[in-house]
Amino acid sequence: MRRSRLYIVIVGLLVSAIACDGAKNQDFIDYIKIGEDSYLGVSKVQEGLEVPWDIQFNESTNSIFVAEIKGGISEIDLNTNAINKVYNVPNVFHRRTAGLLGMALHPDFDQKPFIYVCYTIKEGDSVYAELTKLEYKDKKIISNKPLLKIEGANGHNGSRLIFDSKGYLYWATGDAHSLTHAQDSTTLNGKVLRMTDDGQIPPDNPISNSYVYAWGFRNIQGMTITSKGNLMTSEHGDAIEDEINWVRPLNNYGWIDIEGYHDTEKEKLIVSKSPRTEPIKAWTPVIAPAGLKYYGHSVIPEWNNSLLLVSLKNQSLRVLKLDQSQTKINGEQVFLKDYYGRIRAVTTDSKGNIYIATSNKDWNPQKGFPLVGDDKILKIEKVNFTPQSYLNEYVEDIAQVKDGKTLYNMYCASCHKEDGKGISGTFPPLIKTETVGNKEKLIHTILYGLTGEIEVSGVKYDQAMPSFQFLSDIDIAKITSYVRSSFGNSQSAIGETEVMINRKNTTKN
Ligand code: HEC
Repeated sequence: MRRSRLYIVIVGLLVSAIACDGAKNQDFIDYIKIGEDSYLGVSKVQEGLEVPWDIQFNESTNSIFVAEIKGGISEIDLNTNAINKVYNVPNVFHRRTAGLLGMALHPDFDQKPFIYVCYTIKEGDSVYAELTKLEYKDKKIISNKPLLKIEGANGHNGSRLIFDSKGYLYWATGDAHSLTHAQDSTTLNGKVLRMTDDGQIPPDNPISNSYVYAWGFRNIQGMTITSKGNLMTSEHGDAIEDEINWVRPLNNYGWIDIEGYHDTEKEKLIVSKSPRTEPIKAWTPVIAPAGLKYYGHSVIPEWNNSLLLVSLKNQSLRVLKLDQSQTKINGEQVFLKDYYGRIRAVTTDSKGNIYIATSNKDWNPQKGFPLVGDDKILKIEKVNFTPQSYLNEYVEDIAQVKDGKTLYNMYCASCHKEDGKGISGTFPPLIKTETVGNKEKLIHTILYGLTGEIEVSGVKYDQAMPSFQFLSDIDIAKITSYVRSSFGNSQSAIGETEVMINRKNTTKN
């Protein structure tokens, strides 16, 4: 009798010990190898979501708040993984990338239970981006106070929110597709703005009586603060030069005049006349960086003191190792490449576990996605055993000679799709169209990009096509020849010389 009771107690202790340690072995859906005999387990926290644009962990409630693009805010209890709808932000205007975007929780949430959200609204024909403070009580929102409204657009609305350790709120705004805002320090778009927790301009802002803290940004998609207090952002370039910036007051980050490292003659000339700050990391071809989170835990020592960056086009989780000063990136590793699809948001809990949110139900899903159960929130944590099978770090083969198909998939397929069909109303098809059939026009479009409204096969397109002037003549020849002989097209190839002559004799219209 006694003996069996003791036995039950021991088994009970063992079971609860495993439960306290996080997910049980059988809950893991995948494993990732991150070092010699060092593994992470991935488990599903929630599924069936629709573009969870931001996820934020809150310690006092041991929960994760989720903002979905159509306007819903939910809370996931991390003790049970149960999800509870908290609020629907009224008047959210959702189209393509516009909708409910960034979210921040007040750092003193126990005393000040406020959730800050930014989102787009539409009034008449005009789109605006609005920042609102929500009051949370008993798992519901009980009041709502708009703090600031700025210009918005159908795209390039940013935006992320974050508090610093002194309790100031930063709002990274998009340039709203404007050609002038980012370089105009008197407007609020294409900026990082700084304000009090009640939306007021702090007396010690770098420009007196202005929200503007730093400028020269295109479309910030991630923002975090390191343990030493450095503010970091991730930003979308157009066809080239995605960036990570270390944001400091009054600095100008260069858009729309320049982007990426200051490495061309034109850029060096601009910088010699008026100072611009270089990114601490840039990517060409672009990866479409999204959520950014400083990781500072010893539970995953390999990743301690790094920036975790998730990406959309590149569909991966990147670990960007910081130096001791947390101002330089001196290592980059890529995980989960193309495995869960587009990843938009990342957060960590106080134990050093990582959470990521997929974005496969957004406006631009990639081939093979969404997967069953998308969009998902996944938990990534350290495991103390050796799994039978696991995912490895992704290493790109840079020595590989790239053919037309590879180049097309690198530079064009994220928009026009691998099959050239595009997305009706958003990205035009490249199948038997007039432009694809016209060599000069095709080369010109790729060299200089395209803005303004066009009509292709009876459908209107009003988005911008970026310029690919940075590609070599031979690469453009390979891409255009591939397009003209694929997807049902059967036109002649384009040679390197034809591209060279076109580049020499033409300018942007
Ligand atoms: C970021 C998304 C994006 C990428 C990447 C992109 N395009 Fe485009 N492309 C567009 C959009 C949007 C338009 C329509 C522009 C407009 O409405 O003015 C367009 C238009 C075009 C057109 C003209 C269509 C017509 O019938 O007039 C061609 C041709 C084209 N793109 C080819 C390419 C090729 C080749 C690549 C790769 C080198 C590429 N694009 C990369 C978004 C993109």
